[in-house]
Amino acid sequence: MNKSKRRLTAPDIRARKGGDPIVCLTAYTAPTAQVLDRYVDLLLVGDSVAMVLYGMETTLGVSLDTMIGHGKAVVRASDAALVAVDMPFGSYQGSKEEAFRNAARIMSETGCQAVKLEGGVEMEDTVYFLSQRGVPVFGHVGLRPQSLHTAGGFRSHGKDQREADQILRDAKAIAQAGAFAIVIEGTVEPVAARVTENTPVPIIGIGASPRCDGQVLVTEDLVGMFNTFQPKFVKRYAELNAEMAKAVEKFSRDVRQRRFPDAEHCFGAEPRKVSG
Ligand code: KIV
Repeated sequence: MNKSKRRLTAPDIRARKGGDPIVCLTAYTAPTAQVLDRYVDLLLVGDSVAMVLYGMETTLGVSLDTMIGHGKAVVRASDAALVAVDMPFGSYQGSKEEAFRNAARIMSETGCQAVKLEGGVEMEDTVYFLSQRGVPVFGHVGLRPQSLHTAGGFRSHGKDQREADQILRDAKAIAQAGAFAIVIEGTVEPVAARVTENTPVPIIGIGASPRCDGQVLVTEDLVGMFNTFQPKFVKRYAELNAEMAKAVEKFSRDVRQRRFPDAEHCFGAEPRKVSG
């Protein structure tokens, strides 16, 4: 549990390379951020919000304004974990100047401490440009959901030597350029472990390896609130959708049978007159 009084910073996370495992979870809303804040090191306002909250098929359709709205809510509701906000598809790939303008909007409008962007060698200049201008960058290599159409869909990465070597080159390039930590997603275990061993910044795994410097999951996956599909790498720690269904079923039965609201839920009602 993170018990520090001040919020964690990018240099704090960077300094944990090879140390205690780093805990990261996604948060898109204030109530979720409030619950998670004391247990995690990093709150990620992921562009997975597109699929999890908005029912989109991919992460590609979420806008910068939407990410900023969710980022504001998560920053307001937390005070311990570092908050990183994903840069959405199309907001940083065009040029490093455009990336800076959009990253600056995210940071100044939400108050978050970092942005996350996907990419490796091809993003090296952009990561350097942002890091040199006050924007802490959280990288993302391996399976990159924003590139699913060029990568041939959601599939595990690093199975052949060429792809494995490329993932290591990607991680090294953005670490060298200034990324303070890097997510490695959907990458075969030995490759994720090799990337972790050979990259000087913390590598945070999702569908990767227990040997990574930390782990991240989508919160709705681990608590059983996202059932559209369940990736192999998700471990369910609760079944909140089932709990919610039970509560809603009871509520609807109570309303239909006039058992809710009871006197205690009304203003100035006499017990006898409202109870059935
Ligand atoms: O968008 C997201 O939630 C992510 C995590 C799955 C790492 O990028």
